[in-house]
Amino acid sequence: MDLSKKNIINILKKSQNKNFEILNINIFGNEILFDLSTNNPTLQSKKNIENFISNIIKENFEKKLEFKFKFTVPKQEISPNQIKGKPIEGIKNVIAIASGKGGVGKSTVTSNIAISLIKMGFKVGILDADIYGPSIPIMFDVENARPLSVKELDKNKMKPVESYGVKILSIGFFTKPDQAVIWRGPMASKALNQMIFDASWGELDFLLVDLPPGTGDIHLSILQALPVTGSIIVSTPQNIALADARKGIAMFNQKSINVPVLGLIENMSFFIPDELPENKYYIFGKDGAKNLSHDMNVNFLGEVPIVQSIRESSDFGHPASLQQNSKISLTFEKITRNFITELLKRNKELPPSEILKITTMAGCSEIKNK
Ligand SMILES: Nc1ncnc2c1ncn2[C@@H]1O[C@H](COP(=O)(O)OP(=O)(O)OP(=O)(O)O)[C@@H](O)[C@H]1O
Ligand SMILES: [Mg+2]
Repeated sequence: MDLSKKNIINILKKSQNKNFEILNINIFGNEILFDLSTNNPTLQSKKNIENFISNIIKENFEKKLEFKFKFTVPKQEISPNQIKGKPIEGIKNVIAIASGKGGVGKSTVTSNIAISLIKMGFKVGILDADIYGPSIPIMFDVENARPLSVKELDKNKMKPVESYGVKILSIGFFTKPDQAVIWRGPMASKALNQMIFDASWGELDFLLVDLPPGTGDIHLSILQALPVTGSIIVSTPQNIALADARKGIAMFNQKSINVPVLGLIENMSFFIPDELPENKYYIFGKDGAKNLSHDMNVNFLGEVPIVQSIRESSDFGHPASLQQNSKISLTFEKITRNFITELLKRNKELPPSEILKITTMAGCSEIKNK
């Protein structure tokens, strides 16, 4: 077969590898330059694509060939003009991570998605809004850090603490580790407002907001303060967790709140013991969150198994996704890609998010769009 652009394209098309698209191919003597686009910009995936193409081309052409690859990654797809409703200058997407039930893994999922996004080249911040049990500082090994004050346009601003490239602000930075956090409504809202608007976040592609469990005041405060682009719900497959996740989805879907739920993540889906890798135990039940997502017409972003190293790495302040090419980091990368796909759809199809205005009437909260 002739070494021609047409033949190479045909061979690659036949291979049906969906991990890349060919933008262009140039042949200079024995050297072939591939211009490719891929939805998975991680180093490992690019290497896999390079190996795949080199092998298949070598098999088909007898010549001694050299290859060069250029990748275009989806970052370009998230261009500022697709992102609407962003009154906080510099922040393109605010993503709320919620659950309903406590302890299902919101903070774990938040920190691992943050690391996956960083690995993909995005600028990421986390706002730990869990005033009752802020855990992000521990998960990022910055428990004893305190945000510095910086001058920005003659105003004093809080500089987020940075760890593994992620900018972090947490109520935990303003309380002593052993102090019970008994912030209530107005105090909590004020602190959150400061962390949002009196902070020097700089340019961010994503601000992930790790919410406390439940569907209460703090959630309303956040929705009041921030134009939330979309939310992610985390649940275990267990019935009581699912019941609360359902409430969480319903809260975001309320007409007066109307924050798109970008998807549901099932955490602690199953357990596979190292010594019995063929055994899979569904400790909290099977497919519960997957079924719920069907039921409520919410995208299913993926499942995360119970893995000892996820727990350990959280406790040691080194999120599991920092491990290169481990099963668990690949799992979180896949979930993150699914989430980005949904976000891009959302930004294309829906109008900008609006900040909510909450007026208290006769002791009950009524929510209105501004
Ligand atoms: N997939 C997993 N495998 C093993 N351990 C996990 C997994 N997900 C979370 N954990 C562990 O479970 C505990 C609870 O997780 P996490 O703190 O992320 O939950 P949360 O929903 O943020 O809790 P809270 O409601 O208190 O904020 C942590 O000790 C965490 O390390
Ligand atoms: Mg948490």
